[in-house]
Amino acid sequence: MKKNILVTGAAGQIGTELVPALRERYGDERVIAAGHRTPLPDEVRDGGPHITLDVANQADVVAAIRDHDIEVIYHLASILSALAEANRQNAHAVNVNGLYHVLEAAVAGDVRQVNVPSSIAAFGPDTPPVNTPNETLQRPNTLYGIAKVLGELWGNYYATKLGLDVRGLRLPGIISWKTEPTAGTTDYAVAIFYGALREGRYTCYLRPDTSLPMMYMPDCINAIIGLAEADMAKLKHHADFNVAGVSFTPSELTAAIQRRMPDFEIDYDIDPLRQGIADSWPDSLDDSVARAEWGWRPTYDLDAMVDDMLANLSIKLR
Ligand SMILES: NC(=O)c1ccc[n+]([C@@H]2O[C@H](COP(=O)([O-])OP(=O)(O)OC[C@H]3O[C@@H](n4cnc5c(N)ncnc54)[C@H](O)[C@@H]3O)[C@@H](O)[C@H]2O)c1
Repeated sequence: MKKNILVTGAAGQIGTELVPALRERYGDERVIAAGHRTPLPDEVRDGGPHITLDVANQADVVAAIRDHDIEVIYHLASILSALAEANRQNAHAVNVNGLYHVLEAAVAGDVRQVNVPSSIAAFGPDTPPVNTPNETLQRPNTLYGIAKVLGELWGNYYATKLGLDVRGLRLPGIISWKTEPTAGTTDYAVAIFYGALREGRYTCYLRPDTSLPMMYMPDCINAIIGLAEADMAKLKHHADFNVAGVSFTPSELTAAIQRRMPDFEIDYDIDPLRQGIADSWPDSLDDSVARAEWGWRPTYDLDAMVDDMLANLSIKLR
């Protein structure tokens, strides 16, 4: 019987925290961390098996699944929103071809389950922005979002037609202190804490009233593992669950930081690319489907998240 877990994109913002959480839960030796060009952080590299894997290369993906006795995959390798707009070829190679390679190699290699995050980027400018329902008009206008919709539809297809258990969450912007985000649209909500602690100030690239769905990393890890472990018999959806954490604007986040650091200052220098992307995404999400089908509940609100970010980042930046 197959027994191991493969995590692609293991050096990324989510991978660096998901790998240790999976190792703690299922055993260090069972979790294979697959990095690419970004070096794996010490905790991930030293904590268990690790390999280098280019998901754009189908033969590499097939070999990783075959050679490491893989039962479950967490496919996190991705080119995020702003970076995808800047490099269409690489975005297609990783976000479209890479996912196809993982799904096909999983079917051929008898993998039991593939977990692959979608994103709020799977929505678009015509989507109802407030309390966006699970089932609604999507029509994203970014390359990253288009690939996410394809991933959701493929996930549902492989699950219902090919018997591969594919599961996925539409993650909001993820906030964390261990690994900095790459080039997403919600990165300001992490960078603002570095600015506050290092310089007492931050220049934000989104307008102060831009509301976006966000989630603190511990909730993100619980959501990913919670969905992966959910009872299949209770799931009507597969690769397209809305999950909400907390929604806020740059000005609301600034106020929360200023309540703890009264001298913190913010100004704004709007980046039209990322502002345009943010304007096409929901303000807030209705996650009642995830709550009903597998018991999803977030634990961090804005104040709890800000307290935890400031406490941990001040130690990290000492
Ligand atoms: N972080 C967020 O705010 C957020 C929000 C919504 C959805 N997601 C999704 O969660 C998943 C993980 O996101 P993340 O924030 O950890 O991303 P990240 O950009 O921090 O990490 C992605 C990793 O993929 C790797 N990668 C790039 N090209 C590769 C290739 N050819 N082969 C193998 N690996 C390659 C990179 O080295 C990087 O370490 C992605 O599917 C992303 O779309 C993230």
